[in-house]
Amino acid sequence: MKFKTTTQNARRNFLKNLGTGSLAAISLPGILYPKETTAMPVHNGFFLQDEKYWAQIKKQFAVPSNLIMLNAANLCPAPASVNEKVSGIMSGLSKDVSFQYRKQFTEGRKNSIEALAMYTGVAPDEIGITRNTSESNNIIVNGLDLKAGDEIILWDQNHPSNGVAWEERAKRYGFKVKKVSMPENPKSVEELVKPFREAITPQTKLIAFSHISNTSGIALPAKLICELAGSKNILSFVDGAQSLGSTDLNLKLMGCDFYTGSTHKWFMGPLENGILYIKKDKVAQVWPNIISVGWKDSNMTVDEKFCALGQRNEATLAGLVETVNFHKTIGKTNIANRVVQLNDYLKDQIRTKIPAITFLTPISPELSAGITNINLPGKKPADITQKLYDLFGIATAPTGGIRIAPHIYNSLSDIDKLVSALQTLVV
Ligand SMILES: Cc1ncc(COP(=O)(O)O)c(C=O)c1O
Repeated sequence: MKFKTTTQNARRNFLKNLGTGSLAAISLPGILYPKETTAMPVHNGFFLQDEKYWAQIKKQFAVPSNLIMLNAANLCPAPASVNEKVSGIMSGLSKDVSFQYRKQFTEGRKNSIEALAMYTGVAPDEIGITRNTSESNNIIVNGLDLKAGDEIILWDQNHPSNGVAWEERAKRYGFKVKKVSMPENPKSVEELVKPFREAITPQTKLIAFSHISNTSGIALPAKLICELAGSKNILSFVDGAQSLGSTDLNLKLMGCDFYTGSTHKWFMGPLENGILYIKKDKVAQVWPNIISVGWKDSNMTVDEKFCALGQRNEATLAGLVETVNFHKTIGKTNIANRVVQLNDYLKDQIRTKIPAITFLTPISPELSAGITNINLPGKKPADITQKLYDLFGIATAPTGGIRIAPHIYNSLSDIDKLVSALQTLVV
């Protein structure tokens, strides 16, 4: 069976399950809806009208009703349409691995790249598909020419693949790594730009930072930091592991030189794909790490120059286009708004019902996004996350504190269940 047929079936089923045509028209009017302004049914100040829509989306995921996944910052389930497409290709490959049959997947990868480029607002030749953010990050770390006398600036909350990786390389090549910290309870965007501005010297060659911290949930104003870097001829490198698929992303508007991400996190599949964006005029400055069949010496796209990593899983590469379709059907802005709405609701409920809980993440949605990281007084995060899973079937992560990362397959009632569970564990 050709994978095209599988795709068409998956898409037809997807729309049928949702009630035909309703998705394109959906709009979320805002993030918070005060009770006083509406006659609509409300749930502690939040419209219930949208819950019906999101309940339809939830049906696209195979997570059973006794489990609640609040761990999008680590891994997300994929919707049915994506799983169907990937497994359709996999079963085709189990029957026929000839070059002749597999020729279609070269086109499949190209389609995925074009779809990703459209989704991120860049040109197709600026995007490549790696295996995950760690790999994309290390391609930049190992690919740039830096030498003794040069300086780079990192956020001290960067993931090891964009932190330790730089430090190891600096030991070998002698450049200087400077790390900046953010204030503990940031109150404004300016407080998040200032540490970078103050660390810049005439020797600074690059600023590399996580768009959203996986440990504190702080969302940095990426556009402002990239603008600052660009104004001083400094390269800007944004690790988007926590923003690809959870925010209203447009890399051209962000203005970064490099951006990386994983599709198995907020992007919702398929497993083990990463993206690597390199702005066209910066491609020549980066050396490739891995060279394999298909690599040539000139006129290469980012995918050709940096992502020829040997034999890959053609099913997940070609399946990626289906995830972009899923995002397109719901709408990038709607998804971003819903993620913020779930986090706003979560913060609101915790503050009202369990005031003893402390937040590592700013309350303001301007300074945070999809992650809410909390601590229960006197309790170890690892014990609480284990109990949440064992006793209540709720998946969170002991990263930074207790890291809660809801996505569009969660409902307000999932958040209610988490808050009730935390109420029993706080004592
Ligand atoms: C900010 C950040 N960068 C990179 C990574 C690594 O992602 P992956 O394991 O998909 O390579 C993570 C994982 O949590 C992350 O949060």
